[in-house]
This record gives sequence, C-alpha cells and structure tokens, in this order.
Amino acid sequence: MTLQATRQPLRERFNAALTGFIDRQNAAWPDGAPRGALDSLRRFILAGGKRIRPAFCYWGWRGGGGDDCPAVINAAAALELFHAFALIHDDIIDGSDSRRGQPSMHRRFATLHDRHAWRGDSLAFGRNTALLCGDLCAAWAEQMFHECGLPPAQIHQGYAAFALMRTEVIAGQYLDLVSTVGDDSVANALTVIRMKTARYTVTRPLQIGARLAGAPESLCTAFAEFGDPLGDAFQLRDDVLGVFGDPAVTGKPALDDLREGKPTVMMVLARDAADRAQAAGLASLFGNPALDEAGAEELRDIIRATGAHEQIERMIRVRTDTCLAALARAQLPPAVRAALTELAGAAVNRTH
Ligand code: IPE
Ligand code: IPE
Ligand code: MG
Ligand code: MG
Repeated sequence: MTLQATRQPLRERFNAALTGFIDRQNAAWPDGAPRGALDSLRRFILAGGKRIRPAFCYWGWRGGGGDDCPAVINAAAALELFHAFALIHDDIIDGSDSRRGQPSMHRRFATLHDRHAWRGDSLAFGRNTALLCGDLCAAWAEQMFHECGLPPAQIHQGYAAFALMRTEVIAGQYLDLVSTVGDDSVANALTVIRMKTARYTVTRPLQIGARLAGAPESLCTAFAEFGDPLGDAFQLRDDVLGVFGDPAVTGKPALDDLREGKPTVMMVLARDAADRAQAAGLASLFGNPALDEAGAEELRDIIRATGAHEQIERMIRVRTDTCLAALARAQLPPAVRAALTELAGAAVNRTH
C-alpha cells in the first residue's frame, strides 16, 4: 500500500463524514431561518482545504493503538469544522478577501448585500454574518465530536485535548493581534506561531487522536516533541508563502501581511538585519495599507537581500530535522511512522 494511497481515501472519508453531518443539520435548521448561511457554510467547508488536522488526529489514534473505524473518522473530521471557524474569523480579523481560492466568508455576504441593494453597510453586514457562520462552525465541531460514535468515556478523554487546543488557538490569535501593535522580537514571533498554529495544527490533533485511543502519557509527550517543531515549520512556510507564494495557488491574498505590517518571524528577521537603505524601504513600504504590487516586489527584494528569506528556509529545515528525529525515537507502528513522515513532508514542502 503506497502512502499516497493511504492519504487519498482518508481525505475522501473525512469529506463524506462532513457532508453527512452538514446534511443532517439541514433537517434541524429552524423553520423560517434563511438557508443562505447553511448553504454558504456547506460550500466553504466542502470546497477545499488540505485536511491536515483530521489526518494528524487519525494517525494519532492509530499510533495510540486504535483500529481504523468510522467513529474516528467522524471525530477527526470534527476538527475541520473547528478549523472552518478559525479561518472564517481569521479572515475577518485580517481583513482577507480570499480563502481557498474563493471570496472569504465575510466577502461573500458583503457581495450578497450589495447585489440585493439591501439597506445599510454591506461590509458590516458581511462581517457580522460571517462571525455568526464561524460561531456555528465552532458549535458544530463540538457536536460532531461528541456524536462521533465512540464510547463516551473515550470521547471524554479526547475532549480534554480538544478543549486545550480550542483555548490555545484563540489565545494565539489574540497574541497575534497584540504582537502587531507592540514591540516585536523573533522570540515573540515564535511564541505566536507556536500557539496560534503549531499546537493547533499538529500537536493537539495528534494528541486528541491518541487520547481517544487511551494512549499513555509517554506517547502524548512524543507527539509534542514531533508536533511542536513541525507545526512551527508549517507556519514559517505559511509566512513565506504569504509573501512569495502565488495567490492563484495559495488561494489567499498576496499583500495582506505586508500591508498590515504583520511582524512574522521573517519580517522581524528582515528588520533586524536591514542596513540603513533597507530599513528606510521597510519603513515606507511595510505596513503601508496602500502598498501595490510594485511596492510588494520592492519589499520582496529587501527581504531577500537581508538574508531573511534564506534564514527562514534554514529554520524550516532545522525544525523538520528535529521533528523527524523525534519521530524516529517514538514507539510507533511502522505504518504510522511512515504516514507521519509523509505528512511532515507535505506540511513543509508545499505551495498552498
Ligand atoms: C491555514 O491552515 C491557517 C494556518 C494555520 C496557517 P491550512 O493551510 O491548513 O488551510 P487549509 O485548510 O488547507 O485551507
Ligand atoms: C491563521 O494565521 C491561524 C488560524 C487560522 C488559527 P494566519 O492569519 O497567519 O493564516 P492565513 O495566512 O490567513 O491562513
Ligand atoms: Mg490570516
Ligand atoms: Mg491571522
């Protein structure tokens, strides 16, 4: 069985579980409430996404000795609903107009408002309705997790890690906002990505799966040693793609981080290494809401010239090596080790 063959069906199984869950909500939708929100959410959730968090959850379960079964697919897919909540709210926070190659949720509702020439402020309408859609996804994630079909005692064990993930990512997003307005350092920027992404994307999903399977503490520790550096590398790659990636491939806007002046690790490194001329370029272009593509290209040249881009690539390599060394030490069945090795590669070597 090739690794590719193991991953493809998993993704389809997650999607089938999500489709089933969302379609069941259709029947439970209150009479008289507009179905637009439900339809938009269905499209958003099913139209794209790498499904990396459910995959880590599934392999965490298998690593903890759990057998493949439909219930764990449901529990793992519930993480994707939580992810939808995080993305919808993140796009409101970041003012990002596209996601997964489509207009982001608040954009879609703003466009709907414009198209119907409804009363009031279409942007406020878009943000407010998208907020509610995000809330619904967070609530659905809880529901799907609890209705996954595993025995309640097992769900209870997994839910402790789920709850931790939920608090961490929200705190991480808060820290991300604070970092944008305060004094930034590489150490701070690394703390932000650990919390807003690394734990939420890799470590906690693995631990949720492991806990559901009743795995010992030692495996959860091993998963943290693998997941934290890998999750950091995943976000470092994301930050590079946010500046140097092709928006047609990433499905996300190319200028948002630069216009916002987001102090990502790469930008803090660039700022710290800049000479006088480069510092002047950064001061006038980085964080300028009117930045255009020509200005962005100038910024990209500065980031390359300071060595920050190269340094981030080195940091990604170091973290990838660290996570693979941790994986080699962990007590895991060969199939799980192989799947996690492949997932690690896909998380850091990616174009979207
Ligand atoms: C995007 O996550 C948000 C981050 C934490 C970087 P993904 O890159 O997993 O997004 P999708 O689900 O594939 O769209
Ligand atoms: C997203 O962080 C983190 C979460 C959604 C929790 P970013 O804002 O850096 O990610 P993208 O680039 O919009 O996906
Ligand atoms: Mg964002
Ligand atoms: Mg953000």
